[in-house]
Amino acid sequence: MNIDGKIAFVTGAGRGIGRALCREFRTRGAAGVVVADLDGERARDTAAELGGLGVQCDVSDEAAVNAAVRAALAHYGRVDILVSNAGFGVTELDLDDALSAPNAMWQRMWEVHVMAHVYAVRALLPGMLERAEGYLVNVASAAGVLSQVGDTAYSVTKHGAVGLAESLAITYVERGIRVSVVCPQYVATAITGFDEALPEGTVPGVLTVEQAACAIADGLEREQFLLLTHAEVLGFFQRKASDYDRWLAGMRRLRAGLRCSGGFLKVKR
Ligand SMILES: NC(=O)c1ccc[n+]([C@@H]2O[C@H](COP(=O)([O-])OP(=O)(O)OC[C@H]3O[C@@H](n4cnc5c(N)ncnc54)[C@H](O)[C@@H]3O)[C@@H](O)[C@H]2O)c1
Repeated sequence: MNIDGKIAFVTGAGRGIGRALCREFRTRGAAGVVVADLDGERARDTAAELGGLGVQCDVSDEAAVNAAVRAALAHYGRVDILVSNAGFGVTELDLDDALSAPNAMWQRMWEVHVMAHVYAVRALLPGMLERAEGYLVNVASAAGVLSQVGDTAYSVTKHGAVGLAESLAITYVERGIRVSVVCPQYVATAITGFDEALPEGTVPGVLTVEQAACAIADGLEREQFLLLTHAEVLGFFQRKASDYDRWLAGMRRLRAGLRCSGGFLKVKR
């Protein structure tokens, strides 16, 4: 899809990858951006910078998502691109217990990483189907096709996000709806504990938000389903598919190495 002239609705866009994506969309000629975030002040700041519409919205609350979509439609008349990007991470409390996250955390992860996309698609899809054009994007994670060591609830719910995107792609593409799922590895944001202003190339394998946003926008223009910001993820994914047991053995070695070096990723809310 050509981004030029389009209206995008991006969740979790008060900072991080979502904010960078809104900037990239505007650079590529998007006619408008709706910046939705739990943090209303950050949403409004991003929107003010980009001449867009900022809305405070908890994406796990269907009524709040519906209200944000109504505000977007009242402002712009339509939404062409939905990017469900809002998300969060927390490292497991006990790294030797894959089930140590409390039930409330599992529930929150499920709501924010999976149901939020269901709610936003439900609200925006009817207008897209009427126009026989629209783009549904879910920012999942490489953890959604591989797994993040020490982060079971995050990995499981990101797998759910990938499965949901597959179902949407299977069901709606013939009616003019494009679907992509974005599976990044490390990007310098609050989630990974990096400063968003980290200069490009400072930490091997860690992208800046601008690099991630550019890769995502390129993928949308190509209308590719699986958008990988980190090319190496494709190789890992292929190895997993071709020999699951060998891949698991490799992941166990990775876990042991991280365990010894105390190098588990410290993800933050
Ligand atoms: N940074 C990475 O390395 C990385 C890697 C893979 C996937 N991701 C995914 O990318 C997405 C964006 O993350 P980021 O790295 O930019 O992190 P970030 O913390 O910088 O941004 C996340 C934004 O989402 C918002 N948010 C969180 N919960 C929300 C909710 N319930 N309702 C509305 N907004 C909410 C936050 O307020 C924040 O502005 C997430 O889904 C994350 O899981 C990030």
